[in-house]
Amino acid sequence: MSATTTPFPKAVIFDAYGTLFDVHSVIAAAEQMFPGHGDALSQLWRQKQIEYTQLRTLADPAGAPGAHYRPFWDITLDALRFAAKKLHLTLSRAAEKRLMDEYACLSAFPDAVPALRQLRDAPSASSGSTSAPSGGKAGAGAGSRPGLAILSNGNPQMLDIAVKSAGMTGLFDHVLSVDTVRAYKPSPAAYSLGTQAFGAEPREIVFVSSNGWDVAGASWFGFTTFWLNRQNAPAEELGVTPRGAGGGMNDLLAFLKSLASPDRNRGTGSTGNPGGSRTRHSPGA
Ligand code: LAC
Repeated sequence: MSATTTPFPKAVIFDAYGTLFDVHSVIAAAEQMFPGHGDALSQLWRQKQIEYTQLRTLADPAGAPGAHYRPFWDITLDALRFAAKKLHLTLSRAAEKRLMDEYACLSAFPDAVPALRQLRDAPSASSGSTSAPSGGKAGAGAGSRPGLAILSNGNPQMLDIAVKSAGMTGLFDHVLSVDTVRAYKPSPAAYSLGTQAFGAEPREIVFVSSNGWDVAGASWFGFTTFWLNRQNAPAEELGVTPRGAGGGMNDLLAFLKSLASPDRNRGTGSTGNPGGSRTRHSPGA
């Protein structure tokens, strides 16, 4: 494939929880309530939350998609209750409410808003034609800057509150929730919300996630993937290599720049472990 046939990404789509919003910002409150257990509670809470989403979608019968679906908010509460039980912590109604309230308004990672603004307000961006609020009809290409979206397991109300409280209002062309298809990532039905929203082929979209399993699912779907490896985690053993990886949003910006440059397909190969925090660009598809 020649360099000219690989498009500048038509859109950059972000996972939300763990990628833009710090799910472990609940640790401080959890630690206050359960001294010595805040970190363990937060880690297990997150682990069970993801496990429950995957179980529910995986168990759906062939002819009844969404049969076992429950909104992410409910699953988050179920996961909290399980995690507390498992750790032998007594979760009063008041404690439960406080932790769920914290979850509703998670802190954004400090590099998220500045980078999103930079992407949104790139000097060459078209003047506002794609500045529709979430759910607006931003088209593929979005002028001369890529479209921007969230594609998350979070249900719409959760995402709405999280986006507002993180100061991200107006930064996205679309805020997409898997609630529309009642199937959690890594179901292709979930990822296809991104291609539908921008009228683009999967490879024309850069999908960004901090979750290794999400990057694998998105890569299998066909997205061009960037692993925002915020926790310096080891690479998943799934036989999937993201096109790029790095530890923060600046690495993503550099990656996107490299895709836009004319010699973007001159990669030299990437057999190394993408688990490190340094930027790594793998060769063109
Ligand atoms: C999300 C979860 C997976 O935002 O982090 O979709």
